[in-house]
Amino acid sequence: MATIVSIGSGKGGVGKSVIAANLAMLLAKRGRRVVLADLDVGGADAHILFGLLNPPRTLTDFVERRVERLDEVLQPISAHPFLQLLPGTGDTLATANLPYAKKKRLIRHFAQLQADIIIVDIGAGTSYHALDFFLMADHYLTVATPDPTSVLDLYRFIKLAAIRRVLSAFLSRDAVSEALSERDFASIDEVIQAVGETDPNARATATRTLQGFQPHLIVNRVSGKSRVNVLQLKKLLKEYVGGELTMLGEIPDDPAMTRAVRSYLPVVEFEPTAPAAVALSGAADALLMELAKPAPIPAESASSPERAA
Ligand SMILES: Nc1ncnc2c1ncn2[C@@H]1O[C@H](COP(=O)(O)OP(=O)(O)OP(=O)(O)O)[C@@H](O)[C@H]1O
Ligand SMILES: [Mg+2]
Repeated sequence: MATIVSIGSGKGGVGKSVIAANLAMLLAKRGRRVVLADLDVGGADAHILFGLLNPPRTLTDFVERRVERLDEVLQPISAHPFLQLLPGTGDTLATANLPYAKKKRLIRHFAQLQADIIIVDIGAGTSYHALDFFLMADHYLTVATPDPTSVLDLYRFIKLAAIRRVLSAFLSRDAVSEALSERDFASIDEVIQAVGETDPNARATATRTLQGFQPHLIVNRVSGKSRVNVLQLKKLLKEYVGGELTMLGEIPDDPAMTRAVRSYLPVVEFEPTAPAAVALSGAADALLMELAKPAPIPAESASSPERAA
């Protein structure tokens, strides 16, 4: 089974796709078989970063059952033999009316691909589609820039992801869960209230689920004067969300990044000695160390044992 790492953010344009492409490339260079999958509901563009302007097949072909197997959609990437791409669908995922169980099935197909690591670019935002796909991974990576609105949006994203993770711990396969899964909740307490009538252990389950919620963070476009107070952010999240935030690295604001995008190559390939490339390399090592640790409790098995079965 491949390990799935999802990359999300609250605000758009913070560098998720370039970071996903570079990490995918670096992990391939370190000997892992990597698939970069584009689940960005709004604007799927990971293929463009590798100069694949018009992919012959995309995830849409799989979602709409024009191809039987997910690996028929995989595209080789000339930059590295261990790296493959699953081009995204653009709007199809948002409009495909995918209920929770179908999203889960799609992710299960991901895990069965012949690969060691699947990096999934989720795209920005807190739609329940985005949050569900983000949370169905084994490891979560968030990206923010030091821009105050980006930090605020990151906090909001993580809070809503935590709420949704708690919710998914209660989701079984019946109709009630479908109705719940499409509702927007504002707090973890609201979820507990909604499920509390049928599940007397709701609060204990919620607490257990949150303990396993350990997103990672990369701060991008850092410059001398603009940094993020990561300690404060960690404390805030611990207090209000209950989960643990691990820092994987800071990537400097670096014009080499833009030059690389224009050349359709990851910066780690295009200018490996550029400051951003060096920092990305450090983040890839930090990510590999995290992946080597025992996995945190998956969202659903944190609920009652019989439901996990
Ligand atoms: N460290 C950096 N230094 C300089 N420019 C950067 C850096 N990181 C990203 N950029 C620039 O920001 C642009 C947007 O990045 P990217 O497309 O990866 O963002 P995104 O978070 O995926 O956006 P979206 O939410 O729209 O999917 C890139 O084209 C790149 O030129
Ligand atoms: Mg993107």
